[in-house]
Amino acid sequence: MSSLFPTYKRKEFQLEKGSGTYVFDENNKRYLDFTSGIAVTNLGHCHPEVVSAIQDQSEKIWHTSNLFKNDQQEVLAETLVKNTPLDLAFFCNSGAEANEAAIKLAKKYTGKNKIITFKDSFHGRTFGAMSATGQQKVKDGYGELISEFVHLPWNETEELSKIADEDTAAIMMEVFQGEGGVRMADLSFYKEIQKICDDNHILLIVDEVQTGIGRTGKRYAYDHFDLHPDIVTLAKGLGNGFPIGAMLGKEILKTAFGPGSHGTTFGGSPLACSVGQTVLNIIFQEDFLHEVECKGNNFMKVLKDSLHSHPLVKEVRGKGLLIGIECERPVGSFIEWLEEQGLLTVPAGENVIRLLPPLTVSEEELETAAGIISQLFKQFHKVST
Ligand SMILES: Cc1ncc(COP(=O)(O)O)c(C=O)c1O
Repeated sequence: MSSLFPTYKRKEFQLEKGSGTYVFDENNKRYLDFTSGIAVTNLGHCHPEVVSAIQDQSEKIWHTSNLFKNDQQEVLAETLVKNTPLDLAFFCNSGAEANEAAIKLAKKYTGKNKIITFKDSFHGRTFGAMSATGQQKVKDGYGELISEFVHLPWNETEELSKIADEDTAAIMMEVFQGEGGVRMADLSFYKEIQKICDDNHILLIVDEVQTGIGRTGKRYAYDHFDLHPDIVTLAKGLGNGFPIGAMLGKEILKTAFGPGSHGTTFGGSPLACSVGQTVLNIIFQEDFLHEVECKGNNFMKVLKDSLHSHPLVKEVRGKGLLIGIECERPVGSFIEWLEEQGLLTVPAGENVIRLLPPLTVSEEELETAAGIISQLFKQFHKVST
């Protein structure tokens, strides 16, 4: 019997080693990892520069607490905010923690309580982030939640313009809903959100925990839509698997986050920040991001061409290397079949197969994955006819 709380429905095999896009289980079976640990190992497994960064810094100093000057934090903060509307960073350890910081900052700075978020959104599992989340299944059984979150329909502006008012502290959104099914909104929706925020002095919080750090072919996904957020939250890909989260914000917000207002013991250790900086030195290069965009476009075209007329496929969508295949039925058995063929994928909601290869994936690996996915649908076509 396991001594773990059963909070996860785990697979029965363990992944014991990884290199680049490949992982190996205890029987040495090889898989193409198109999950990246759910959008985390964006540079693939055991990237040599990330391994070196960990080795080098771990021989100097790991942790100092936030009571001391920390050059690694300063450098990482500067890299994250460079050429963005943001000026300052607060470091933590996860996406939920970054969102907690964002919620606290928005409330404290504005002195207001109401925060608008969206149905089907996912912001994490701490009390604040869970309350912000627009999925009932995440909240069931936890009693009374923080009541000031208002969840509005995604990609609809009618209610939004009525509900967003002078009592609203912030609108909090993912650019593409990741856990909610890889769902983008129309350009007009993003435009309207920015306009409502500007007109009503409402803060715009963009949750880039899943979409940030190059995943969609830009440093941050909000760059696709000319949004200028006041606060951005990050985690997942920032440490390539080493836990680190960050909240970025505009200079004007500084007054609300003075000494003692918020904090964390572990956040922003020299070790975590050295890893984060190494990751950004690679990903925040224009050529690297351009390549992610091209690989994503090609992969999506191949998938669309092979699946567009399949009766079980509703839509192939996404941006960069965050791609979803929405099906007409739950995808659990599809994901198992892909796994048997050596391709790891992850669901997003009930009906979407989510593809999150490392950003360093090769064209050849993408081609192999596309071949396996095409076989899957041929296979299930046969079974269902
Ligand atoms: C958009 C988004 N925000 C927040 C989170 C929570 O991040 P973490 O699991 O690191 O707390 C996730 C995790 O999937 C996410 O996708």
